[in-house]
Amino acid sequence: MDRIRITGGKRLNGSIPIAGAKNATLPLMIASLLTDQTLVLDNVPRLADVGLLQRILGNHGVDIMVSGKRPGETQYDGQTLHISAANIVDTTAPYELVSRMRASFWVIAPLLARMGEARVSMPGGCAIGTRPVDLLIMALDNLGAEIEIDRGYVVARARNGLKGGKISFPKVTVGGTHTAVMAASIASGTTVIENAAREPEIGDVADCLNKMGARISGAGSSRIVIEGVSKLGGARHRVLPDRIETGTYAMAVAMAGGEVVLENARPELLQAAFDVLGQAGVEITPTNAGVRVARNGAGLAPVQVTTSPFPGFPTDLQAQLMALMTRAKGISHITETIFENRFMHVQELVRLGARITLNGERATIEGVETLKGAPVMATDLRASVSLVIAALAAEGETIVNRVYHLDRGFERLEDKLAGCGAAIERLSG
Ligand code: UD1
Repeated sequence: MDRIRITGGKRLNGSIPIAGAKNATLPLMIASLLTDQTLVLDNVPRLADVGLLQRILGNHGVDIMVSGKRPGETQYDGQTLHISAANIVDTTAPYELVSRMRASFWVIAPLLARMGEARVSMPGGCAIGTRPVDLLIMALDNLGAEIEIDRGYVVARARNGLKGGKISFPKVTVGGTHTAVMAASIASGTTVIENAAREPEIGDVADCLNKMGARISGAGSSRIVIEGVSKLGGARHRVLPDRIETGTYAMAVAMAGGEVVLENARPELLQAAFDVLGQAGVEITPTNAGVRVARNGAGLAPVQVTTSPFPGFPTDLQAQLMALMTRAKGISHITETIFENRFMHVQELVRLGARITLNGERATIEGVETLKGAPVMATDLRASVSLVIAALAAEGETIVNRVYHLDRGFERLEDKLAGCGAAIERLSG
């Protein structure tokens, strides 16, 4: 198993290219199941989760061709995938595959809408709380699906196709919204989704579906209206930049000090996180190339943050912010409202010398003068990168074990940080 070794204390200077968003790529790839024509996706990140989803889609009979390198492309340019679900040969998504990545459960929506049936294992995925799928099932039920749970599988049927309906989510859910939008796009009649997730990735997928011939309006707001069409066609779509990767590197620069341009980043996708970094004393400046992040000399001020659905502060940046606040001058509070049990990074940060106490969903972080390097263990995707951020400012050497969690969501993290002067390397095997 690979590990990452970091020797703290180096400032970061230079530029870091931001990849396409993982959380848009996955539903976009899944949306390819809605059509028998080819969907071409540009700016696809090279991530373990993307590779795993290729395998899952392959199991349904989807062909995926990855374009070769073009002249002038760098190692950091995204890939282009040509995805063809001309023939769906299997409508079952087995436990062995779905349990490895939760978002793969979402294949249930296009399979059901196009084929009239789907049999998808209940998901596993990140170890952050129970993460049920009841609201995804509710959405499909409201569109006329018959649903039963059979030995760990959700079996959904709609022999005569799905029918538009009203879906009012009692809680904001990204996966529920993706599922509802995909299913409704080829249902008969009109669907109205209330209390929809407003995450930018929802808008990106809706843009792509509209290019494919769907009639979706309001994506990005909390009320989405979809007029079902009988068939979708092919399209070409460029995945939007990853706002979580952007925020993660912004926090890395804030931790280490220095000045870095995050190329291709779009500041409007993470205004809440940039506002918090501004309060902490980090300079954030939008530029033509992306966003410039700088912290020179001055210490970090503590912050009070509560995670919430977009446009609030994202739960996917909570662990990274906590790592940063371990060095602030004073006491910070971070409240996690989206996922219970999303604090596995706390005990690892404490191993590096952080002072953090937990009370239910609220963490109190008392900033310390120094962190000290130690062996630590990555527990989930975002938690693992928070350990890297802490290690950048820790005295001596930190070894992060189990970095396969990192590889699920961060492309060439060690190369991107080393390119800006960090002392970081991957130890293979
Ligand atoms: C997506 C993101 C993930 C992010 C999360 C919240 C992708 C691939 N993943 O995950 O990175 O952390 O949004 O921004 O885009 N819930 C239910 N019942 C359901 C579905 C969800 O109770 O049927 C709850 C969840 O347990 C959680 C909350 O709703 O407490 C939000 O979850 P949701 O937005 O659905 O997260 P994901 O789509 O799984």
